[in-house]
Amino acid sequence: MNNSAIGVFDSGVGGLTCVKELVKLLPNENIVYLGDTARVPYGTRSKETIIKYAKQDIAFLEQHNVKMILVACGTVSSVLSSFKRENSIEVTGVVEPAVQVACAETKNNRVGVIATSATVKSGMYGKVIRSINPNIKVIGKACPMFVPLVENGYTDVDCPPARFFAEEYLEVMKKENVDTLILGCTHYPHLIDLISDIMGNDVKLISSGGELAKYALNEMTYRDMLSDRSEPGRLELYCTDSVSLFSENVEAFLGKNINGEIYKCNLTV
Ligand code: DGL
Repeated sequence: MNNSAIGVFDSGVGGLTCVKELVKLLPNENIVYLGDTARVPYGTRSKETIIKYAKQDIAFLEQHNVKMILVACGTVSSVLSSFKRENSIEVTGVVEPAVQVACAETKNNRVGVIATSATVKSGMYGKVIRSINPNIKVIGKACPMFVPLVENGYTDVDCPPARFFAEEYLEVMKKENVDTLILGCTHYPHLIDLISDIMGNDVKLISSGGELAKYALNEMTYRDMLSDRSEPGRLELYCTDSVSLFSENVEAFLGKNINGEIYKCNLTV
C-alpha cells in the first residue's frame, strides 16, 4: 500500500485524457498533474529541447513525493527512452501500453499511428510494434495542427477548421486501409468524435493516454502500490502559464466539479 500521489505530466492539456481515465479507474488516488502550458507544443521542437523540458517536468513531480510518474505525452515518451534507468521513481510512457493493445486488436496487420512531428520522426511506435509483431505494417502521420486546435478548444465534431485538417491528415490512413489507429499524441482523444466520424466505426481507435492509465492500474495492483484511502482522491493540477486559460480546458475536459485545485508553477532548471 502507498498513499502518495500519482504524478502525471504533459506539455499541456493532452495528458488530461490519461487523468480522466485514472480518475475513473482509481477514484481514491491523489493525482499531481503538470501541464507545461507556457511551452506547449513540444512536438515541433528538437530532441535536445524535448529532453531538457522532460527532465524539468520529472524533477518537478519528484519534488511532490509521487509514487510513480506517468509520461502522458507521446512526444516525450518517444524521445526519452531511458526513463527507468535514470530515475529512482518508476517513470512510464504511453508507447508500450498503446502498442500492446494495437498489436492485440489488429486483424489485418495494418496499424496507423497519428502523432506529433517529433514522435513520428522518432519512429518509436513503429519500432515497438515491429518488436512485438514484425508482420504489422505501420503507417505514421504527423498531425501538427491538432495540438493548437485542442489547446484552443476547437474539438467539436462539426468544427470546420478541425474537420479540414482531420480529413487531410487521415486520408492516408483510409487509403492504407488501417483497421487500428493509435492516437499517439495524448491531445488527440479530445478530437475522438471527429476522428471516428472520418475513419468509420470499423476502425479501432486507441487512446495512448487512456491505455497508460490502465497500465498504471495493473502495475500498481501487481506491486501493491495502491492507496488504502476510502474518500475520493484529490487532484492537484499545475500549469506553467495562465491558470484561467488552463481552468477553461480543465473544465471542458474533466468537468466543472473536480475535487482539487489548479495552481501556477515555475519549473527550475
Ligand atoms: N500531448 C503531447 C503528445 O502526446 C504533446 C503535444 C505537443 O506538445 O506537441 O505528444
